[in-house]
Amino acid sequence: MRRVITYGTFDMLHYGHINLLKRARDLGDYLIVALSTDEFNLLSKNKKTYFSYEKRKQLLEAIRYVDLVIPENAWDQKVSDIKLYQIDTFVMGDDWTGQFDFISEETDAEVVYLERTPEISTTQIKEDLNAENLATEHESKIQ
Ligand code: CTP
Repeated sequence: MRRVITYGTFDMLHYGHINLLKRARDLGDYLIVALSTDEFNLLSKNKKTYFSYEKRKQLLEAIRYVDLVIPENAWDQKVSDIKLYQIDTFVMGDDWTGQFDFISEETDAEVVYLERTPEISTTQIKEDLNAENLATEHESKIQ
């Protein structure tokens, strides 16, 4: 059985995430998602998520391409996760290209960067909704 792992926040799950998860799962038979905890997002990524860790986990677990969700608490847990779960392939979106090449030297896992789905991200959704709200507010004021 080929095991694949990927890492991320996966807040406000969208089709870019689903595309990534499907292609990651297609690289093997078992996909583990290491999901950034709320603390890790806040302290290390400077990100406040809309959905809590438990809700993001629940959503990921409902996806047919995801076999297991584990917490991501630190940047440096990857090598030990890969050894512990006997991972064959480490996957990230290509916004991270080159940054995890060391993993193929420190473990037996292959490192694969998958192309991001264009024009969608959690940040983009939040910005678009904010812009829409501002426009609606403005319209209601001038009426
Ligand atoms: N991803 C992707 N295509 C997108 C958005 C995300 O392939 N359009 C991938 C990322 O490359 C990463 C995983 O999905 O491997 C989780 O990404 P995450 O950072 O949680 O999602 P974003 O939508 O990029 O969130 P943010 O805007 O907060 O950075």
